[in-house]
Amino acid sequence: MVKAVVNSPAPLKVGIAGLGVVGAGVVRLLDQHAGTLAARAGRPIKVVAVSARDRRKKRDMPKGSWRWYGDAADLAGDPDVDVVVELIGGADGKARALVEAALRAGKGVVTANKAMLAVHGAKIAALAEAHDAPLAFEAAVAGGIPIVKALREGLIGNRIDQITGILNGTCNYILTEMRNTGRDFGEVLKEAQQLGYAEADPSFDIDGVDAAHKLAVLTSLAFNTRVDFRAVHVEGIRHVSAVDIAFAREFGYRIKLLAIARRTPRGIEQRVHPCMVPADTPIAHVDGVFNAVSAVGDYVGRVMFEGRGAGSNPTASAVVADLADLAAGRRAPAFGVPAVKLQPLKAAAMADYIGRYYIRLIVRDQPGVLADVSAVLRDHKISIESLVQRGRSEAENQPVAVVFITHEAREADMARALKRIAKLRPVLQPPAPIRIETP
Ligand code: NDP
Ligand code: HSE
Repeated sequence: MVKAVVNSPAPLKVGIAGLGVVGAGVVRLLDQHAGTLAARAGRPIKVVAVSARDRRKKRDMPKGSWRWYGDAADLAGDPDVDVVVELIGGADGKARALVEAALRAGKGVVTANKAMLAVHGAKIAALAEAHDAPLAFEAAVAGGIPIVKALREGLIGNRIDQITGILNGTCNYILTEMRNTGRDFGEVLKEAQQLGYAEADPSFDIDGVDAAHKLAVLTSLAFNTRVDFRAVHVEGIRHVSAVDIAFAREFGYRIKLLAIARRTPRGIEQRVHPCMVPADTPIAHVDGVFNAVSAVGDYVGRVMFEGRGAGSNPTASAVVADLADLAAGRRAPAFGVPAVKLQPLKAAAMADYIGRYYIRLIVRDQPGVLADVSAVLRDHKISIESLVQRGRSEAENQPVAVVFITHEAREADMARALKRIAKLRPVLQPPAPIRIETP
């Protein structure tokens, strides 16, 4: 009798650069789910080489018999590595050099590096195509939520008109903890860092830059435009205070850092800033490290995705999804269409944005101050919907918080009005506006 010889399929051989929060999670997941993954992807996914800065560091992952490279760039030259997983971070430097070298060598690249993609995404996608090398980055946006695949594949039949997201886990965690526990901003940020949510430089998180990086990538996928990070209007959450959170509660809102990309007659709007969102909308209830992305398509209508947006395990889940695609031979153009077909983004100027505003002022409690502020708003064609002063100081001239809610106003008018308001003598701090959005 002749026996059939069944060859087991060759593994996908992976080199991982960066064994920090995300890298260690990827190694753990590949180890723990090795059998299931091999069955689902059609062949095993095997880590054969790794790189990090400190070889002696204790890491939360199983040990393996992989090759160690002190210089991550060497992974690109290892003939026994099929795919390089870049989990170092940073728009340039070692991470970018490694990614470009790996693509030039025809190796697949999987990365979670939204900073690099936001700044160099279109060029890197073109390089990948020039060398017929797959490039995948599910983990770069919204952690464990498979939003890249959803936009590129699940929603392929739609014209996307708007993307709205909570895209930074650190900020959402901070805003949620401040609201629920009254804890201090700095203390909660430290906790987010310990939990592995924050970027190496956490100002990227709290100043809105990380969310803007991710929005720039989503915009490209949704509208098939070249990634244009510089066109994103970015504001962070540093100026959001306990007073704002208390006022938000009183007015029936919650404060969220939203990232919004929208098709308008003026072009594509991309903006990241704190928003007052009505407390009865679904996105207002996305709390803690959770992210959410809602997309509006012409055929599907609104779809919403929610899940953990940062941390070791959720991010590893997304990285491994990309590896499984490469192992199975599934590939798609990185940004949905071939890089040469990505259109330059026609940006809608933020100055033309129209919306309602919450403006919180800290003013000296003295007669005439509210009339002066109202007059400036009137001079700039901004109409007031309501005005609230909380508590009256014991003595005249003490600081009090005052809030104006406006009807729809134009951003450029608002910016000019706020400049003038800041110069009024009784106004003690720069005005802190928060846009009101109903997503
Ligand atoms: P970490 O700081 O935890 O890990 C970075 C890793 O890179 C470390 O292992 C470090 O080595 C290694 N590294 C740094 N410089 C070099 C270098 N020059 N050569 C080789 N290795 C180097 O970062 P994260 O794991 O949090 O983030 C990695 C990437 O994933 C970033 O792009 C980040 O933006 C992205 N990301 C992170 C998420 C998260 O929740 N943390 C979620 C989604 C994306 P050593 O350990 O020896 O110091
Ligand atoms: N620092 C990022 C965040 C990590 O807090 O969302 C996930 O990309």
